Amino acid sequence: MINQVYSAATDRYNCGMKYRRCGKSGIMLPEISLGLWQNFGDTAPLSRSREMLLHAFDNGICHFDLANNYGPSYGSAEATFGSIMQSDLRPYRDELFISTKAGYDMWPGPYGEMGSRKYLISSLDQSLKRMKVDYVDIFYSHRYDPVTPIEETMQALVDIVRSGKALYAGISNYPHEAAETAYRYLAAHDVPCLLHQVKYNMMHRIPETDNLLEQAKNAGSGFIAFSPLAQGLLTDRYLGGIPSDSRAAKDFSLKKDSLTPELVDNLKKLNAIAAERGQSLAQMALAWVLKDDLVTSVIIGASSIAQIDDNLKAIRNTAFTEEELKAINSLTE
Ligand SMILES: NC(=O)c1ccc[n+]([C@@H]2O[C@H](COP(=O)([O-])OP(=O)(O)OC[C@H]3O[C@@H](n4cnc5c(N)ncnc54)[C@H](OP(=O)(O)O)[C@@H]3O)[C@@H](O)[C@H]2O)c1
Repeated sequence: MINQVYSAATDRYNCGMKYRRCGKSGIMLPEISLGLWQNFGDTAPLSRSREMLLHAFDNGICHFDLANNYGPSYGSAEATFGSIMQSDLRPYRDELFISTKAGYDMWPGPYGEMGSRKYLISSLDQSLKRMKVDYVDIFYSHRYDPVTPIEETMQALVDIVRSGKALYAGISNYPHEAAETAYRYLAAHDVPCLLHQVKYNMMHRIPETDNLLEQAKNAGSGFIAFSPLAQGLLTDRYLGGIPSDSRAAKDFSLKKDSLTPELVDNLKKLNAIAAERGQSLAQMALAWVLKDDLVTSVIIGASSIAQIDDNLKAIRNTAFTEEELKAINSLTE
């Protein structure tokens, strides 16, 4: 293969992407960010990962979301990113907002998961090596650890920011009360929480019911939604069965048996509402999350450039009528 030198699209900030301010910080994030949880590991072709990342960047997606154990295999999504950083994105480092996280299982033994200072700091050191960067833009505690004192986890985030290995700190999947303690601790130590990253989509409304959206705003933090397409359910992917190359076919994080006839029936009805709006179901699902200005960005996953392109069009129309919202609620709540 002949290595082609990458030159980013000159209109990448004028091609329709919109940027939202992250809480009370100086940071703006694209309304659509790209996550590397699946499809970017060492089981995926590097050429496809490269094409998707560069295509995203060419279209104004300057925020890439990673974690230590994204792959499969664990660590390999960061290694893929590092390889593309090296081959193509290095000249654009200052235009990129790169995240990583630690919290879930990464290596064997008592120091390879959860929220200890030892785990977070050593995991970030490993991540930086894999990603071939000197620092990340945001480092998250990936999940709340009910056993480790939250002060230890938060102080590790503070010290990581002070060390220059991350510019900002964030939390992910924190329940309301723990998030409150985290916001307070970080603010008191002059490292205000930049983002709370939580699952949020039409079929998963805990950020509303547990008041996490308002809470982030009150704390001056941004809120970033992951799995906005419910891992692909809220798209046209499964309206006619389970495609062999789809996430549900892998039967791992998205189970085949979650696709009950009732769910597929409701997805078809949602698809019809989306068509009335002139959108694909994926576009409507992303627009639905973005309708709330308490949301800074949605982190999508993708397995093709066509999916990224489809999703990018979501931001053209994020307004909903009361009738549309009622109809959507009746099919998803
Ligand atoms: N903090 C956390 O604990 C946490 C947890 C999970 C995820 N995340 C972050 O959030 C990111 C996104 O999560 P996710 O991958 O679950 O997000 P998602 O956007 O809900 O689902 C992505 C999947 O939907 C399908 N898809 C995407 N666009 C489509 C389109 N236009 N038409 C048809 N199908 C489409 C693809 O499935 P196929 O692969 O089947 O094509 C794609 O892999 C992750 O990469 C990660 O960065 C964070």
